[in-house]
Amino acid sequence: MTTYDANFWEKQYQSADPSWGTTPNAPVVATIPRLHLQPGRALELGAGHGGDALWLAAQGWAVTALDVAQTAVDRIARRAAEEGLAARVTAVRRDVTVDPLPTGPFDLVWGSFFYAPDREAVLRRAAESVNPGGALLIVDHGSVAPWSWSSASDHELPTPAELAESLGLGPDWTPEVLEAPKRIATGPNGQRAEVTDTIVGLRRAQQP
Ligand SMILES: C[S@@+](CC[C@H](N)C(=O)[O-])C[C@H]1O[C@@H](n2cnc3c(N)ncnc32)[C@H](O)[C@@H]1O
Repeated sequence: MTTYDANFWEKQYQSADPSWGTTPNAPVVATIPRLHLQPGRALELGAGHGGDALWLAAQGWAVTALDVAQTAVDRIARRAAEEGLAARVTAVRRDVTVDPLPTGPFDLVWGSFFYAPDREAVLRRAAESVNPGGALLIVDHGSVAPWSWSSASDHELPTPAELAESLGLGPDWTPEVLEAPKRIATGPNGQRAEVTDTIVGLRRAQQP
């Protein structure tokens, strides 16, 4: 069975086309405006080539993008510099399952297709750094694309409500987006297929 550790991800990125994953994920672009957040500080878990992070920075956010693969982190930093966004993007190599997370608070914490061992614990820890009134956004696979390096048996595919429930964040958190839309996606070699996304957007209560 494949171990999705730092070596696995580093090899993936060393052999990946550096332009893959540099455009923002459609569900992120569609969902963040619906959370009605003012641009502030954002933290991304498992940023990959930084498509989401760079897009959000271009909207005026200060983004800290974490990834366990140094190659990915270096590419984010390079693109941020090329796109004039270096002042708003901090790309850091971090294994979020064991390393400390950056100091918050953040107005938005998100992860797109970010999977790691004991991910719920990582997300719970990251949620603690969300400001009152801020949001936690998780975009997961709701189906397995034909080009996926994973297989359906590697991990369960919970519904949005099941995913939100599994985090056990407590009464301070309200689900604002629990959706599983379908879209046509493009794979690394240009293949096209219908996929389902799982979108969970949770709002942290304002302090009384
Ligand atoms: C499927 S990719 C998604 C990348 C990006 N979010 C996107 O949507 O294109 C998952 C990412 O999570 C990162 N990752 C996996 N385990 C991690 C960990 N323990 N700490 C930090 N990043 C991790 C991988 O290196 C990879 O970039």
